[in-house]
Amino acid sequence: MFADLVLKNAKICFADKIVRAGLAINGEQIGRIAKETNLPPACKRIDLGGRLVLPGIIDVHVHMRDQDLEYKEDFFTGTCAAASGGITTVLDMPNNMPITMSVDSLKRRARIASCKSIVNVAFYSAFPERLEEMRDIVEWGARGFKVFLSKRIGGLDPEDDESLLRGFRKAAALNIPVLIQAEDKRLLESKLEELKGMGKCDVAAFLEAHSVHCEAEAVRRVVGLARMSGAHIHICHVSAGKSLNIISSAKREGIKVTCEVTPHHLLLSSRELESLGSIALTNPPLRSGKDQQSLWLNLKNGTVDIIASDHAPHALHEKRKDSIWDVAPGFPGLETMIPLMLTQVNNGRLSLSELVWIMSKRPAEIFRIERRGILKEGCFADFIVVDMKKEWKIDSSKFYSKAKFSPFDGWKVKGKVTKTFVNGQLIMDEDEIVGKPGVGKIIC
Ligand code: DOR
Ligand code: ZN
Repeated sequence: MFADLVLKNAKICFADKIVRAGLAINGEQIGRIAKETNLPPACKRIDLGGRLVLPGIIDVHVHMRDQDLEYKEDFFTGTCAAASGGITTVLDMPNNMPITMSVDSLKRRARIASCKSIVNVAFYSAFPERLEEMRDIVEWGARGFKVFLSKRIGGLDPEDDESLLRGFRKAAALNIPVLIQAEDKRLLESKLEELKGMGKCDVAAFLEAHSVHCEAEAVRRVVGLARMSGAHIHICHVSAGKSLNIISSAKREGIKVTCEVTPHHLLLSSRELESLGSIALTNPPLRSGKDQQSLWLNLKNGTVDIIASDHAPHALHEKRKDSIWDVAPGFPGLETMIPLMLTQVNNGRLSLSELVWIMSKRPAEIFRIERRGILKEGCFADFIVVDMKKEWKIDSSKFYSKAKFSPFDGWKVKGKVTKTFVNGQLIMDEDEIVGKPGVGKIIC
């Protein structure tokens, strides 16, 4: 039997080993992974010259925007950015305009995404006003319910434990994760009032308001609610050692809690925030060197489950403001995440297998993205080809994202994604987007 495509002379990277072999692709699927002599004949053959093949990266924290926030990003530009960065599936956050919080809004977003996307897209929902609607949202295929504890987005009141518990209990019954933006609303608001009252509006004031204490208290509270409800909570972009200590002991206690960290919290500190200014402003903000160390430690010891980008594009004018309180927090991350982490692999801080584990395999397991995130016969042919030796410079003016800025602009990196395949199709080849909109699937 002829395969559609054979990629020979590759080093295939699994979550536990690297093997010299080739891949045969049949339609959307991986038909065979085998030594060259055992690969079938094919319509087309590509010699990878000994390069690495990794499963496509699954980024579980992406703000694709589009709809009324299309000026910041849309599903085409966002998924081109993903393809360029080696990410083959993105999970889209619900803080959109309009907010994703019903089956109707999910369907509308999916319809837009399906004709524009070149990588796969799955969706989260905010909690609906009427919790009875949660079942339909889950049945439609949302991957989780997100709650922002510092601001009401969706049907739950983040200040009311009873309201949160009702939502968490329902999520537990429906067996779906609750994603948490961990920042205590009351602590934050009282500090904001105090600082604004004193006329403070600089980076230092932002750091004081969005403190480690604010994050850790929110984590402590939701861990308690998870204990009571039995819900699986996933803490987004954990930035501080103190929060990780709480998560680590919750895990030991058997509470269903998972968490993610971002490349920017791993690689930048508040010192860089002071020098880079509002471009590097994000929420949670960059923390101390000590927090960075703790993030690395907990990444290595397994407390941290996932690395995700928190791709949060904005228009440049929204980043440049006189007062820090007017700056839109967040920056694009889809095109920098993998090169930055490959550089860490080259520096010996992380192994390739660890990278595959925390950026492909675990994300797929935690958010039930079936037959993706691993290289296996019968799974979808989502994978990337990587040149580990290529040294280059991050240039944000060349981003496919509409947000052409980054705190990593100008960084020297080592390791490059040279080809990205989604559903058996080559979509990015040596920096060029070659996939057609619609190649990416809606996962629901
Ligand atoms: O930096 C951030 N950007 N933090 C958030 O919580 C939201 C996000 C965004 O949507 O821009
Ligand atoms: Zn986010």
